[in-house]
Amino acid sequence: MITTENTAQLRAQIKAWRLAGETIAFVPTMGNLHLGHLTLVAEAKKRATKIVASIFVNPMQFDNPNDLTNYPRTLEQDSEQLIAQGVDLLFTPTPEIMYPKGLDAQTFVEVPGISDILCGASRPGHFRGVATIVTKLFNLVTPDIACFGTKDYQQLQVIRAMVEDLSIDTEIIGVETVRESSGLAKSSRNGYLTADELTVAPLLYQVMQQLAKAVKQGESITEQISLAIARLDVSDFTTDYVKVRYADDLTNATTADRQLVILAAAFLGKARLIDNLVFEPSA
Ligand code: PAJ
Repeated sequence: MITTENTAQLRAQIKAWRLAGETIAFVPTMGNLHLGHLTLVAEAKKRATKIVASIFVNPMQFDNPNDLTNYPRTLEQDSEQLIAQGVDLLFTPTPEIMYPKGLDAQTFVEVPGISDILCGASRPGHFRGVATIVTKLFNLVTPDIACFGTKDYQQLQVIRAMVEDLSIDTEIIGVETVRESSGLAKSSRNGYLTADELTVAPLLYQVMQQLAKAVKQGESITEQISLAIARLDVSDFTTDYVKVRYADDLTNATTADRQLVILAAAFLGKARLIDNLVFEPSA
């Protein structure tokens, strides 16, 4: 595996592969890799001849400076895992390389509407940071395809809208969420949880499953959301939001007449956990 932080070297390697007729799949990450990330790599391998991954803890998408400072950085173990998965090139730029003028003087990409709701409302500027870094990475890697997890459902929607709006020639592949046997979605942020909190954490997905079941049975969406929030808040969770939205455009779902998605974000100890569950309205 070639590892580089150098954008000129990255571009030269991509060009050489293109001349040799290779196809390129891309998996952008912030590192501290787990099975969720590795599943994206496995999916990428099925779809292209060369795999590029990136590890960059993107300062532009963090609304909280402590969160940025404390974000786990485990490059050595991450590299070993990516080598074992057969990744061909790992791009590991520094903030100075990606944002030489600093964040405030940097051109940004913003997807309107969808960036301001749900996690975008709780974390102002977050999706601007995501859209900007993904655009920059796409311009460097020029991938044929790029893999993203449905774990970050809203992020995936933001990226799909951005690629369409900006006519970016990359196919976006959504990959299903990888979970622990308890149902807890794998996340780098699970590492912030204590042993006790780890036993509570699966409740988030359980509550969402119960909510989906009740809505399928025709119960009131509003009432069931209130119940779900009450169940979380009576445990050690502090709910940020639990919402039921139409799965295709994330607009408010008042009636269960097409595919729905439950989106939830809740604090547990030092971690802010997010998860989602897509379901068909009728059983
Ligand atoms: P990061 O949180 O490292 O996630 C990288 C990719 O892994 C994302 O596409 C995310 O949805 C996916 N992923 C995370 N947990 C997963 C799980 N349990 N199952 C399946 N896929 C999972 O998301 C980011 O980084 C950043 O915002 C990034 C897109 C790299 C831009 O900075």
